[in-house]
Amino acid sequence: MKSNSYGRFMGFTSFGESHGTAIGIVIEDVKPGIVFPLNKIQEELDARKPGKTFISTTRKEEDKIVILSGIFEGKTTGMPICLVVYNRDANSKDYEHLKDIFRPGHADFTYYNKFKIYDHRGGGRASGRETISRIAASGLVDDLLKNIRINVYPVQIGRFHVKEIDPDFRNDLNWFDRSNYNELTKYLTEIKKAGNSIGGIVEVKIENISSGLGDPVFEKLDANLAKAILSIGSVKGIEFGDGFVFAALKGDQANDQMDSSGFKSNHSGGILGGISTGQNIIFRFAVKPTSSINITQKTISKDGKEVAFKSGGRHDTCIVPRILPVAKAMIKLVLADAVSYQKLISSNELDLTDYREAVDKIDEDILIALKRRNDISELIKKYKKENQIKVEDNIREKKLLKNLIKKAKSLEISEEFIKEIWKIILKESKNIQS
Ligand SMILES: Cc1cc2nc3c(=O)[nH]c(=O)nc-3n(C[C@H](O)[C@H](O)[C@H](O)COP(=O)(O)O)c2cc1C
Repeated sequence: MKSNSYGRFMGFTSFGESHGTAIGIVIEDVKPGIVFPLNKIQEELDARKPGKTFISTTRKEEDKIVILSGIFEGKTTGMPICLVVYNRDANSKDYEHLKDIFRPGHADFTYYNKFKIYDHRGGGRASGRETISRIAASGLVDDLLKNIRINVYPVQIGRFHVKEIDPDFRNDLNWFDRSNYNELTKYLTEIKKAGNSIGGIVEVKIENISSGLGDPVFEKLDANLAKAILSIGSVKGIEFGDGFVFAALKGDQANDQMDSSGFKSNHSGGILGGISTGQNIIFRFAVKPTSSINITQKTISKDGKEVAFKSGGRHDTCIVPRILPVAKAMIKLVLADAVSYQKLISSNELDLTDYREAVDKIDEDILIALKRRNDISELIKKYKKENQIKVEDNIREKKLLKNLIKKAKSLEISEEFIKEIWKIILKESKNIQS
């Protein structure tokens, strides 16, 4: 299963472990001749880098992006792009004693039970370092998003809430409330000193978004945003618009009424039926406290023995500040996918390049389907051989062709065309099976 790949249009595959050689991505389906935004991607990566704030891990990584393929003289060549960030400051010794222990709150237990083998060093594939790949990929979709503005900021850390918003207040944590910032930093420093960690809530406001993004029923915009955000390590909850408050509201309080000038409120968070309304999209997500803490807790070893465990490695006191650029990257990727799909169905926005791109996509889908067909033909061959069944079955073939012609007619595809294709497919199938 391709569980490390993402995207319907600009697809990419993420790879690498926290203490392996590198973290990286392979991106396919990129048009040739696009100026590759290396500096912009590097800027975004710098914002995610460890060691940026007083509460982040002391792991010092340069996180410099290295291009291995697909870019020539600063432009995409249309070939697969491979980008990597090498892991330099990986203190694997810190993790040696954890080899046989399931750290509380981490993915160790589930990875081991599922795969029976995993790279335990620094969280391996479940590490926050994996998110480098998402930021690197999102740098390529800016052109598609045009004027869309994505704001991602914390609204709660522990017992502190953002109440008085001052968007001009600049600080390490992107905390918009000047009135309680000093108290918050004191609180975080105390938590850090105690070797503990703390969670928080992040709010997202997407502005200048057109109506019509998102597709029923399994590509709904809110569903896709939720999946993308929940795919980030340590995110445990998400709500759109009034979210969980809806449970206490009555219908007349929850509905977004309309008049001739548009919506009168935005309880739904800018999405109805999985499709953007054109209002701001608003959602919030909860980030759990960092699992690694310097406090002794109970756990078990791989052989089921109870052990007392205290984390020795380096870690973030609060993941919230570091998750902001990662969430923005995932939102960009989701929106780029939705915009690309919307372009295909709202033909007034399409130009010849878009039409060609759509046709190329369909041809590629046909190729993939043919490859699958060939693979199944191989299996049929094996099955028939094992069960001594004749390869040719003329009655079945005739019946199939008749059905195909009937279906083709209903789709306004000519009988001649479908007969030709069927002849070629059948020939290939017989070649494989003979
Ligand atoms: C940017 C980022 C940095 C992270 N840093 C740490 C860390 O320093 N220590 C830690 O225990 N978890 C850290 N995490 C969280 C783990 O990746 C995550 O909690 C863990 O793998 C368990 O997965 P789950 O919380 O999604 O169930 C980080 C996550 C992100 C996105």
